[in-house]
Amino acid sequence: MTVLQLDQISKKFGNFQALDQVSMELKEGEIYGFIGPNGAGKSTTIRILLGMLKATEGRATLFGKDAWKDAADIHKRCAYVPGDVYVWPNLTGGEVIDVLLKMNGSYSEKKRDEWIERFQFDPKKKARSYSKGNRQKIALIAAFASEADLFILDEPTSGLDPLMEHTFQQGVREVKEAGKTVLLSSHILSEVEKLCDRVAIIRKGKIIERGTLDDLRHLTRMQMQVETRETPEGFVKLSGVHQLEEAGRQFSFQADTDHMEEIINYLNKYGVRKMESTPPTLEDLFMRHYEERSGEENNQ
Ligand SMILES: Nc1ncnc2c1ncn2[C@@H]1O[C@H](COP(=O)(O)OP(=O)(O)OP(=O)(O)O)[C@@H](O)[C@H]1O
Ligand SMILES: [Mg+2]
Repeated sequence: MTVLQLDQISKKFGNFQALDQVSMELKEGEIYGFIGPNGAGKSTTIRILLGMLKATEGRATLFGKDAWKDAADIHKRCAYVPGDVYVWPNLTGGEVIDVLLKMNGSYSEKKRDEWIERFQFDPKKKARSYSKGNRQKIALIAAFASEADLFILDEPTSGLDPLMEHTFQQGVREVKEAGKTVLLSSHILSEVEKLCDRVAIIRKGKIIERGTLDDLRHLTRMQMQVETRETPEGFVKLSGVHQLEEAGRQFSFQADTDHMEEIINYLNKYGVRKMESTPPTLEDLFMRHYEERSGEENNQ
């Protein structure tokens, strides 16, 4: 079942095209990563989904309802965590959590107290005195304690330390186990890589790549470390081999996945003594994509 759908959404701020025909579909129960550099359009997309901004063109639906017209209905089933959390300065942290939970519809007090514990959060202080990370915890506790069906998380961990980040990841996994849907925006790729079933990469308002992590890796190269008994002649000329570095008969290079068979057959003739391969991280993938695209632009 489709929980969230963006159909060719464009957004202009004056003459500036912040989003250009963004389409996306989230199925029930999946964790969807939304990755892009600063200013790419992640938060703008999310604000449109939450009915806080009106798209210039296109259609955004959540649970089959219109993001702009039916915002009130939609919000009852959504939990939203922004990167920068607003708090009412004169309430305590605990009071702010309760206000947020009441706005989000039904919730469990037991779960709320559990999450306060798990995030090691002190709910008694005045909200104005909390650090950025602690303000983020307020929104995360309210989200994880809610009975929402869809979690929209816009760079929710930018203020958390590694231990709390781990707690956050645990929370997202539990949400998924409960069959709920998550949209997680980030520019921290390692975070998304650990959690997401599928990702979309946005750059300058356009989706430039999307798919499962495996789909995206398929387009990429493996990092290889090989040692051979004899020197493989002409290895550098073999197609699919990139960034070759040699030290004696030890080679380090990147191999195009679709040339892997030829490369291994070739090396085998020279007696492979050692072979190691590491899949690229999403970071490598993204950087390569980024560089290639900006190269294209420079050539035009
Ligand atoms: N209200 C606005 N008026 C004018 N321009 C805006 C407005 N909101 C966003 N923009 C512009 O739209 C572009 C996309 O911004 P957006 O906040 O969606 O990026 P982002 O991907 O969330 O970036 P970040 O990772 O820094 O949060 C940016 O160039 C931004 O300056
Ligand atoms: Mg943003």
